[in-house]
Amino acid sequence: MIYPVFLYGSPILRKVASDVPEAFPGLDELIDNMFETMYHSEGLGLAAPQIGISLRIFVIDASPFAEDDPSLKDFRKVFINPRILSYEGEIKKYNEGCLSIPDIREDVDREEKILIRYCDQNFQYSEEYFDGVVARIIQHEYDHLEGRLFTDLISPLKKRLLKRKLTSISKGQVDVKYRVKKQ
Ligand code: NI
Repeated sequence: MIYPVFLYGSPILRKVASDVPEAFPGLDELIDNMFETMYHSEGLGLAAPQIGISLRIFVIDASPFAEDDPSLKDFRKVFINPRILSYEGEIKKYNEGCLSIPDIREDVDREEKILIRYCDQNFQYSEEYFDGVVARIIQHEYDHLEGRLFTDLISPLKKRLLKRKLTSISKGQVDVKYRVKKQ
């Protein structure tokens, strides 16, 4: 099932999401639907608050970057109850977009490497380092679980320039090919 994506301005995008309980009914189906929604909207990642579910879970697919990094060929992953334990390495700029903020892309500074603790679909916890583009996507999706959006991380000047566009998005005035939830 393809969910509608909640847009900038939806209160749920500003909430800190709750942990997924271990025996959460319908978890497998939710994950499948999140992947389906992400592929339908051609995103690299999708966090549960973006489909109106305030739980700590996100999915990512970094395979579109396999041309630059062949190890990402099958990189598709779900993160449940993640906690970023440390941010490391150099700060790098990268041009980011978000399915909840259509037609806006801005350079965002983020650390190059992270250490994250999370569990998989079978509730097995592990700690793992990620770097490069994967660390970038994870940080973006993780922010959704903390109620943060990439537009919070740009300069006040740039934000002011985007204000009108952001207001239109929050009113549902968007032209996208995927399903969105208008307020
Ligand atoms: Ni996003």
